[in-house]
Amino acid sequence: MNWGLKNRLSRIIKSDGHTVMLAVDHGYFLGPLSGLEVPAKTVTPLIPYADSLMLTRGILRTSIPADTDIPIVLRVSGGNSIVGKDLSNEGIAVSIEEAIRLNVSAMALSIYVGSEYEHQTLINLSKLVNEGEKYGIPVLAVTAVGKEMTRGARYLSLASRIAAELGAHFVKTYYCEGFEKVVESCPVPIVIAGGKKIAEREALELAFNAIHKGACGVDMGRNIFQSEHPMAMIQSVRKIVHENTSVDEAFELFNSLKSTKRKNK
Ligand code: 5RP
Repeated sequence: MNWGLKNRLSRIIKSDGHTVMLAVDHGYFLGPLSGLEVPAKTVTPLIPYADSLMLTRGILRTSIPADTDIPIVLRVSGGNSIVGKDLSNEGIAVSIEEAIRLNVSAMALSIYVGSEYEHQTLINLSKLVNEGEKYGIPVLAVTAVGKEMTRGARYLSLASRIAAELGAHFVKTYYCEGFEKVVESCPVPIVIAGGKKIAEREALELAFNAIHKGACGVDMGRNIFQSEHPMAMIQSVRKIVHENTSVDEAFELFNSLKSTKRKNK
């Protein structure tokens, strides 16, 4: 791994080997989903608690001040939508020159293993890794799961391992039963997505289990910004990821931060 690439990756995955990435890229295929209608309003207060921001160039340019000191993981795949024919029909939508201009720390792209457009998305990943290697920009492969696909360890191991084999520098996947097998067979660091909004305690449990079974961190979106208390939530997730606390302790923190906020209103 060249120095620039290592340096960029080390801005995202901190010296303790862990990371709390905040995913707010959903609009690239979902449009203005709940909680992200006005991205700047949602994201700005959360920035101090995130180790990096995962988002599209459109939201970066319009909603994040250029003097913000946070590593950017730029979503570069796109060309699909939730109402389109096939979610897996993605291409590379951002040039490497643009990623460099935007001073990003990594580029993110989805692969759809087992889908109609599997080949296309795997070639997208390979091409992006070639470009990233040229300029020292790491690539995050997101193992996207189609509407009808299960998120079991067998499938997620397959997708994560293929991503690593094609050269992804880190992989984003889902937590599942037998997650340790997914981690064991993937030679690059893994971060987990949070998935659909669930109760806060359950989301903290998810983060805890993932870290304890070998994930290097989380790349969480909806379970943070769709919480009624996003700031309390991100700080509690951080406690688990970086301070190795129990779910009980993290949930206690969540409850105390949310009630402090109420008192200060
Ligand atoms: C979609 C993505 C999203 O950014 C990510 O999965 C969303 O995170 P969360 O599931 O925690 O809302 O990469 O493919």
